[in-house]
Amino acid sequence: MNKDTFTFTNNRTGEKYEFDIIDATRGPSVVDISSFYKQTGMFTFDVGYTSTASCTSYITFIDGEKGELRYRGHEIEDLAENHSYLETCYLLLNGKLPTEEELLDFDLELRNRSFIDENLRHLIAAFPDSAHPMSILSSGVSALSSFYYEHLNIDDEAEYQEMARRIIAKIPTLAAFAYRKSLGIPFIYPDVDKSFTENFLYMLRAYPGGKLKRTSEGREEIKKIEVEALDAIFTLHADHEQNASTTTVRNVASTGAHPYVAISAGISALWGRAHGGANESVIAQLEMIGEVENVDAYIARAKDHDDDFRLMGFGHRVYKNFDPRARELKKLQDQLKDELNLDSKLMDIAHKIEEIALNDEYFIERKLYPNIDFYSGVILTALKLERPMFTPIFVIGRTVGWITQLMEFKTDPASKIARPRQLYLGK
Ligand code: SDX
Repeated sequence: MNKDTFTFTNNRTGEKYEFDIIDATRGPSVVDISSFYKQTGMFTFDVGYTSTASCTSYITFIDGEKGELRYRGHEIEDLAENHSYLETCYLLLNGKLPTEEELLDFDLELRNRSFIDENLRHLIAAFPDSAHPMSILSSGVSALSSFYYEHLNIDDEAEYQEMARRIIAKIPTLAAFAYRKSLGIPFIYPDVDKSFTENFLYMLRAYPGGKLKRTSEGREEIKKIEVEALDAIFTLHADHEQNASTTTVRNVASTGAHPYVAISAGISALWGRAHGGANESVIAQLEMIGEVENVDAYIARAKDHDDDFRLMGFGHRVYKNFDPRARELKKLQDQLKDELNLDSKLMDIAHKIEEIALNDEYFIERKLYPNIDFYSGVILTALKLERPMFTPIFVIGRTVGWITQLMEFKTDPASKIARPRQLYLGK
């Protein structure tokens, strides 16, 4: 059966060119223009890849118009509200939710792999105390490639699954060590008796010797509600199809580089304030605005093209509706408001920004809505996480997405080294 085609006409020469249309199972079809240069002698031009599909994928689906997000077909709302982050990790890696036994095995594997080589402590120690944890995290993950050569044979599924589990398990420990380093306090090793998310909070908060802070009522345990909130935040950050950092991971993997340096490159890309770094900038911006009364003036600045001020946490390349993750985080904020004593002043400023922006022509016309970063910071602050740890939290959640996308790239026979061309305007 001949495929449907898309015809381009060059009206300089009258020549017509036909390219196959390939339909998606969900979402937009694509026009396969891989032979465009060979047929026409011209390149297509798409700065920032706003209309370009770089690969086929079976992992995550986003409908930007509807504000819909699915991991392996499962709606993000269901996963965030009814499943643990580890179940979501298993779903992304294996294409199905785990049975009870599979989940137990997966959980144990991650606990047992959560330790890092002692030599990495010296690498972390070499950084100044003022180092941003993201610089330590990207360096530490890159350094992991020096410790792990095996499990890189992509043709052996078991080997690659083991490599994936290792990186998912070790990044929280590296992130916690980076945080402790910034405070100048001893590192706390993972406790294999604790769940993935509780263990991370434990490594951040415990005193040397592993005890948690004493309070007048006795030892301060890590509250269940805190673990559940952070676990949902990890789930909401787990994957997001071909975003800038995932594209970076795929591009680095396309050269045949070690998978861990590809993940390290993804961490570096995520750090930018236009991407994952926005969660840290949102809180700084809410504090800079300071009062609900000042919101109007900052909205005016965000609309002024001569002012490079942008509303952090607003707008998205794909979502032209509410980011469903922002909706989930807003629900979480409302649930946690009293239990975790959320900063109501910052919340009031955020809600005022949202209320004004969603009724203002500038934002409506450009379909600018709150994105995942707009609400995460208030919750992370209430979890006693310092602002420089916000983007590392995003890294911990997203690592499973990066490694799943990398594995999909490596097993796709159509994959090629990433090597775009250019529109040359030089001499
Ligand atoms: C993430 O891709 C992903 O999936 C990323 C992510 C993931 O899970 O991986 O979802 C995570 O990175 C979320 C986004 C976090 N970043 C921010 O919140 C930073 C603020 N947002 C913007 O910088 C911007 O909206 C981007 C970077 C998110 C999207 O940029 P685009 O798609 O390239 O859009 P654009 O810059 O071309 O803007 C289109 C118009 C412009 O106005 P005009 O020139 O048409 O008049 O909208 C305006 C922009 O000036 N605009 C904003 C704005 N965002 C876009 N104006 C004011 N404030 C903003 N935040």
